[in-house]
Parts: sequence; C-alpha cells; structure tokens
Amino acid sequence: MKMMAKITNIIEKGMGKHPALVRLYGLYYNDMVEKEIELGQIQSADHVLCIGGGCLPYTAIKIAQETSATIKVIDIDEDAVQTARRVVAKVGLSDRIKITLASGQGVDAAGFSVAHVALQATPRDAILENIFKTASTRIRILMRSPRKHMQSLYCKTHEKYLCNCYKQVGQNTPTMQATWLLTQ
Ligand SMILES: C[S@@+](CC[C@H](N)C(=O)[O-])C[C@H]1O[C@@H](n2cnc3c(N)ncnc32)[C@H](O)[C@@H]1O
Repeated sequence: MKMMAKITNIIEKGMGKHPALVRLYGLYYNDMVEKEIELGQIQSADHVLCIGGGCLPYTAIKIAQETSATIKVIDIDEDAVQTARRVVAKVGLSDRIKITLASGQGVDAAGFSVAHVALQATPRDAILENIFKTASTRIRILMRSPRKHMQSLYCKTHEKYLCNCYKQVGQNTPTMQATWLLTQ
C-alpha cells in the first residue's frame, strides 16, 4: 500500500467511530463529489460502483444523498468494510449503499452504469482493465488523479488510458488535481 493510502486509512478508521467527525470529514469531500456528480451526470436511475470506499465511504454517502442512485461500495480491507457498514447504517443509508469485500481488479462491473475509482485504489491499470472487460461499453468511469508533485505517493495510471479520458474537472484539494471521466 502506498504511503498516502496508509495515512488516509488511519485517519478514516479514527473518524469513522464518531458521527460528528463523519460530518466534519464530509466538509473535505462535499465540493469534490458535487463536481463528480455533475461530471458523471449521475442520476437516481444509475447503479454506481465505488472502488475503494475505505472506513468512511463519504463519496458513496454524498452520491446517495444528492442523487438517490443505488450504490455498491467495495474495499479490499475487511476492517474498512465492517466500519463502513456501521457508518452507513448510522446515516440511515444501508438500503441504498451496499458494502462488500472485493477488489477493483476482480469485481464484476456488469450492470453498473458508473464506476468511481478512489485516489488510493491500486493497481489502477488492472482496475481499469477489469472494468473495461466486465462492464457495459456505456459505463462512465470517474477516476481521481493526484497532483503532479504528489504522484509518487500514489499508484500511477498508464498513459495509454488518457485517450479514454474525454472530460475532466479540476479539484481544489491538497492531494487531488482532477477527476477524469473515462469511457471504453
Ligand atoms: C482510504 S479510502 C478513500 C476513499 C474515501 N473514503 C472516499 O469516500 O472516497 C481508499 C480505500 O481504497 C481501498 N483500496 C485500495 N485498492 C483497492 C482495490 N484494488 N480494490 C478495492 N479497494 C481498494 C483501500 O483499502 C482503502 O480503504
């Protein structure tokens, strides 16, 4: 696991235990996720696959609150899955956000209209290959990309995937440069 992913994991594990801290954590994500909803044109009829939800799957929570879409969150960390289920239950969204132990490079993405790839999800190339292989050709893939000077702290995406990116939105966080919208 890359260093930033480890740091985020520790922060989320601590904050996931307290509802007030979940709301505080959300302040960091609100603007970012709103831009992603707009970029991906996510609506209530969408089925969204969030790859790398962490202990505190705020991206999924915000998408559910803003759009009423149906969401599946996956994570490779069993502890994160257990904590995330408790957090989602506390905010009353267990019926619309399902959380499963699975990897982005192994999950079957068939039936999802949108896939969201967390900044810390790795290996990114294998995750993208898997989505391309298993999902419908119409899937919209939202992928977060790090700031240039922070790239070494995150998993890289091979340049060949940039031609699949047809739109992007800039993000104003210390770690993220943009969210890309990719298609097959
Ligand atoms: C710390 S979270 C950040 C997501 C953030 N909470 C959100 O709402 O957008 C990143 C998570 O990605 C998970 N992860 C990393 N690689 C993954 C993969 N290949 N498949 C599924 N989950 C992955 C990590 O276990 C970690 O819990």
